[in-house]
Amino acid sequence: MDSPNPALVLLTPLFLLLLAYPLFNGPDSARAQQLLPIVKTNFTQVFIVHLQSPRGSPGLLTSEELNDWYFSYLPNTTLDSGEPRMIHTYDYVITGFAARLTDEEAASLESTDGFVFAYPEKNQPLHTTYTPEFLGLNQFNGLWEHSSQGEGVIVAVLDTGILPNHPSFADTLKLPQPPLKWRGRCDLPAESCPQWADHDHKNFCPHDFCSQKNFLQLLLLSSAAVLLRTPIDDTGHGTHVAGIAVGSPVYNVHLNGLARGTAAGMAPSAHLAVYRVCQNNECPDSFSLKGIEKAILDGVDIIQISNGAPNEFHLSGNIKGSFRALQKGILTICSAQNQGPIPSLISNDAPWILTVGAASTGRRNTVVLKLGNGMMFNGESSNQPDPSDNIIDLPLINPVGVNKTHEKTFCLNGSMTDLNITGKIVICRKEFTEPHEKSKVVKEAGGVGIIIVNQKWSGDTLSSYSFAIPGIHVTHKDTLKIRDYTAKTNPTASITFKGTEFGIRPSPSIAAFSSRGPSSINGGILKPDVIAPGVNILSAWPFDAGDGSAKSDDAFHFESGTSMAAPHVSGIAALLKKVHPDWTPAMIKSALMTTAYTEDRDKNRITDDASNRRAPANAFAIGAGHVNPSAAEDPGLVYDTSIEDYMSYLCGLNGMSPRKFIMITSDPSACSNKKKMAAEELNYPSIQVSMGWGGKNKTVPRTVTNVGKANSIYMVTVVEPNGVKVDVNPKTLEFDSIGEEKKFTVEISLTGSPPAGQREAWEGRLVWVSGKYQVASPIVVIE
Ligand SMILES: *[C@@H]1O[C@H](CO)[C@@H](O)[C@H](O)[C@H]1NC(C)=O
Ligand SMILES: *[C@@H]1O[C@H](CO)[C@@H](O)[C@H](O)[C@H]1NC(C)=O
Ligand SMILES: *[C@@H]1O[C@H](CO)[C@@H](O)[C@H](O)[C@H]1NC(C)=O
Ligand SMILES: *[C@@H]1O[C@H](CO)[C@@H](O)[C@H](O)[C@H]1NC(C)=O
Ligand SMILES: *[C@@H]1O[C@H](CO)[C@@H](O)[C@H](O)[C@H]1NC(C)=O
Ligand SMILES: *[C@@H]1O[C@H](CO)[C@@H](O)[C@H](O)[C@H]1NC(C)=O
Repeated sequence: MDSPNPALVLLTPLFLLLLAYPLFNGPDSARAQQLLPIVKTNFTQVFIVHLQSPRGSPGLLTSEELNDWYFSYLPNTTLDSGEPRMIHTYDYVITGFAARLTDEEAASLESTDGFVFAYPEKNQPLHTTYTPEFLGLNQFNGLWEHSSQGEGVIVAVLDTGILPNHPSFADTLKLPQPPLKWRGRCDLPAESCPQWADHDHKNFCPHDFCSQKNFLQLLLLSSAAVLLRTPIDDTGHGTHVAGIAVGSPVYNVHLNGLARGTAAGMAPSAHLAVYRVCQNNECPDSFSLKGIEKAILDGVDIIQISNGAPNEFHLSGNIKGSFRALQKGILTICSAQNQGPIPSLISNDAPWILTVGAASTGRRNTVVLKLGNGMMFNGESSNQPDPSDNIIDLPLINPVGVNKTHEKTFCLNGSMTDLNITGKIVICRKEFTEPHEKSKVVKEAGGVGIIIVNQKWSGDTLSSYSFAIPGIHVTHKDTLKIRDYTAKTNPTASITFKGTEFGIRPSPSIAAFSSRGPSSINGGILKPDVIAPGVNILSAWPFDAGDGSAKSDDAFHFESGTSMAAPHVSGIAALLKKVHPDWTPAMIKSALMTTAYTEDRDKNRITDDASNRRAPANAFAIGAGHVNPSAAEDPGLVYDTSIEDYMSYLCGLNGMSPRKFIMITSDPSACSNKKKMAAEELNYPSIQVSMGWGGKNKTVPRTVTNVGKANSIYMVTVVEPNGVKVDVNPKTLEFDSIGEEKKFTVEISLTGSPPAGQREAWEGRLVWVSGKYQVASPIVVIE
């Protein structure tokens, strides 16, 4: 059996002693007698408990029998407080359940038949940063037309719920009946309607939402006391995300007059299935697992998730659930998280997930800051009043210069009291509180303007924040100059508004906050896979935006985060699914990756906002590059990956044990009858190779499938990383038919030392070219 993993031991010391699990003989009436007495400590948490499948097939048990069997593992059904213990039982994603237990009770399960593993669930954070800007819907009218805007495809959004009566979810396109394979329901009890008041305290009935476009799936829980009894979005996150993926067209949308235009999701004709698995910005793992299970059983085509944290595969609901989704032909798209630019804090990094980072777009809501010395800087804000509200030549104050305490530099409430900021423009650092709140603090203390400044790690990424007074958000580079100037006597500044501008360069660039690889968990698969618009995205919002000056019927709001990038890709994946209903999830993913672009609109390598000097972004920031929907429709060749391949990859992962394998895949035979495969051998559309200590060369295999023209010849082009020789064999691939597969190998040899400034990774590119087709893969070599 597996030896305890140090990370695991830290998390769950109680399971240190778990060395073996007995073979399980199926549910039997004797089970109940084996249970240990209730231990009288009253601190309980939700444990996710994995069990071995009952012998034979779990299908041999009815749902009810399965449920009874799960309940037999509980000391009893309710806590002292009367709260039910059972939170969720699972029929498909895992064999097991989630229940409230004390540590002792959970530990006592270890000696029971059929027990595999139990661990306290964690809350996964949402992936929004509170920044604003907009997205230009890309020029992919061809794909929109060919896919009928995703008609008939069902996209599951697992998030904080939705504001159901928002115009983005009206059935304006009069969609046809949901496909027959849809097995979900939208028949929530009518008597529960009145308790679901929306944010305006109007009664809302879910029936109003259930239409041919929208399906609402409440997670029905055994516990009356548990979370999420209403589908109404309490943060705005889920509404925003769903709007980006599949929102119906809404005309003449704007925020305070900015970014005016038609708002539509990427796949406006796709059906939306809403599963509320998060609230208060947190997504408990047991709910994520249940949400994914429901989505799979309901028959959705695409699963969209914008939450998560770096986690070992067997302890992540998103990763386990998405593996089971894959087995039903469903692609899961997840955000990479917002922990950039720190390396290796990236979540949802399993190879069967399409992991998405965030890029800027070419739109800016421009504000100009002019200093008393004549220097001018462009920044952003979404709250742009009349030109008459411009503020001209007012005193500028940097609280850092006055008293270097954190409270002041971040403009926290209460910290301004010993400063005289009356009539002044105040400089505030971005972190800790919302910029809008900082602007209120400044206003309450008599300030008349605010400059939100970026620290080094936020670099050039700007947000269109909404402020209570005239304000601007500026880059780190500009911050340094502004601070230098402010140190002089009697500094002054002016803030003037220019409205929405398009074609801002460079764009796209990678957002400083977008999480970066390399993953420390997945054994060497390059992540993120792709990047997509995720900075200042305007989408549906359930509240009055910002300072309340926007009317609620505007109900659109700028948000930034990888949370906003992922649903773009989910919507595009829905369009591809419609055009290519026979493609596997891996093929859809491959098409998006091999057609992604790595150059910005000026034909330079996409730059990294976090570099503060427009340095080229590396593959750990952008993966294969920025998604290009119309090219993805017709990629020429794809790298397909079978379930067996993913299983072999899992078996080849360092530290994989039978127990972990079963927790991820629900396959009780574990790795005993399976091939082991190194991560770099997985038929992945990107190539990441680790040379290991003293290693000088490695050869990795790949297989491509022809989905372009029946008769075609592809020739390889390689951009060799500096100091690396890449030899592809064969160099020409000849196809006679669609669906034909060809194998090739890529031999990678070190010939020199790494290029300056890139001490850890060497990067190159492999492209199969045939006529209009360019099937590109990044090559990343790590020492
Ligand atoms: C829970 O335990 C604490 C001390 O361990 C005790 O003070 C408290 O009264 C207990 N609560 C209940 C509901 O039993
Ligand atoms: C479970 O045990 C607690 C005491 O630990 C008790 O208060 C509760 O009533 C029991 N529930 C049932 C259903 O027996
Ligand atoms: C700086 O501010 C802190 C708290 O606001 C205060 O305690 C301290 O005395 C101030 N220092 C100076 C030099 O003004
Ligand atoms: C604060 O500064 C303003 C203008 O700079 C001045 O008119 C006012 O008297 C000052 N208030 C105090 C309490 O010093
Ligand atoms: C700051 O704190 C005061 C006192 O607690 C409160 O009245 C005010 O609303 C707060 N301001 C902001 C912007 O939170
Ligand atoms: C690759 O490395 C092996 C030893 O690790 C060596 O035998 C072989 O000749 C090398 N191949 C090339 C092409 O350098």
